[in-house]
Amino acid sequence: MREYLSSRIFKTISEVADLEGVEVYVIGGFVRDIFLNRPSKDIDIVVVGSGVEFAKAVANRLRSKRLTLFKNFGTAQLKHNEWDIEFVGARKESYRLDSRKPIVEDGTLEDDQKRRDFTINALALSLNAKNYGELLDPFGGIKDLKNGIIRTPLDPATTFSDDPLRMLRAIRFATQLNFNIEPETFKAIGQMSNRITIVSTERIMDEVNKMMLAPSPSRGWLLLDECGLLPYVLPELTAMKGVETRNGIAHKDNFYHTLEVLDNLAAKSDSLWLRWAALLHDIGKPRTKKFIPGQGWTFHGHEFLGAKMIPEIFRKLKLPLNEKMKFVQKMVLLHLRPIILSQDIVTDSAVRRLLFDAGDDIDDLMALCEADITSKNDYTVRKHLANFRIVRKKLKEIEEKDAIRNFQPPVTGEMIMETFNLSPCKEVGIIKNRIKDAILDGEIRNDFNQAYGLMLKTGEELGFVPVKLHPNYKPAS
Ligand code: CTP
Repeated sequence: MREYLSSRIFKTISEVADLEGVEVYVIGGFVRDIFLNRPSKDIDIVVVGSGVEFAKAVANRLRSKRLTLFKNFGTAQLKHNEWDIEFVGARKESYRLDSRKPIVEDGTLEDDQKRRDFTINALALSLNAKNYGELLDPFGGIKDLKNGIIRTPLDPATTFSDDPLRMLRAIRFATQLNFNIEPETFKAIGQMSNRITIVSTERIMDEVNKMMLAPSPSRGWLLLDECGLLPYVLPELTAMKGVETRNGIAHKDNFYHTLEVLDNLAAKSDSLWLRWAALLHDIGKPRTKKFIPGQGWTFHGHEFLGAKMIPEIFRKLKLPLNEKMKFVQKMVLLHLRPIILSQDIVTDSAVRRLLFDAGDDIDDLMALCEADITSKNDYTVRKHLANFRIVRKKLKEIEEKDAIRNFQPPVTGEMIMETFNLSPCKEVGIIKNRIKDAILDGEIRNDFNQAYGLMLKTGEELGFVPVKLHPNYKPAS
């Protein structure tokens, strides 16, 4: 234990604590992470006294100017070398039923530990010289860490009423650490799930994104579903649940399928946004579902509808409405393309079109598509994966030959207008498209001379006469 506290920063805090004559502890996530062997750089310090005054004394001793005081909250933040340190005075908090505003009073260390979210987050280590490094664990946090248990220090209804976000934090920690939520704690979440509505979307999504970055994020979504929080977080996912049977034909449960895809993808990629794409790839299915006699269940166009739903979902969840959203939208829109391709004879032209549409995101799209193969039938999975290898090989060959990934048309609209002396008009677009299609279909190479030749031919077919040839054009002799 002591080796974690041997850094200069802890020694300084300890010296100031004794000089000022106050009890000082390191507490919360930092201590939990020491025991989990994943030491972090965020330190929470609790002072039995004024956190702000103590922080000033520490900053003085370190001659640091990087101290920010939040006087209204009675907290202070100090940045020192790689460390980010929060100071707070120990508090006792009680809530009046008729008001959301807590009455905050100064308290002892144990008062402060009591009002924390989970036993594993309520561990404290003393920093005073007389008992430097001593562990204070009044709620059995170490035992819970060893047994992999998430449990509130007080009656769960009290802890969750103090801050309903903690219901989500319980699920986030269970997912991240692969822990179980103690049954009474989990039951309370089920009973109080509607209280999450008073929490801001930003705080909720901070936890959800941490959950999404866990090794198996499906666990979190399953727990959210089980305790009734899911409809408050992402009702579109709740809508994917269930199996319908008609004429003895059932479709698969798209909720569980989605979670399998998410975990498959998570095993291959740490990208948060690609994981979101996996979670949302079939989001258009419930609204496109149809039973067609003779054909069975269909979800025609679910990729188009799904892509259309993404901006609204991102807006509601306060996720970024920038290129990250566009990336997810593109993945949802294109997620069937590689699989359709692999079921057919893989033509160069189809591969070029896929490369053209996916651009630099082709590798992510292939990873998503591979993760989407979840059949129970081993033979089907192996067959699909083998076809995928062919698609990947072709993608590589064509990329090396034709450089389609970041396709720039070799002949621009300006060149077309100059050659035929045209103002902007729809025929310029027709000629440009003709050239693009010819390249993607392999009729001509992705090369200026061949494209310019085709431009002259197409222009003349449309009745235009070239008035000025581009100096770089070398007609084939
Ligand atoms: N805490 C709490 N209730 C909350 C949020 C935080 O009791 N709603 C307490 C916990 O003791 C927690 C500490 O504040 O350990 C720090 O919170 P935070 O920085 O959000 O999380 P960490 O536990 O440090 O975990 P992580 O670094 O994984 O976010």
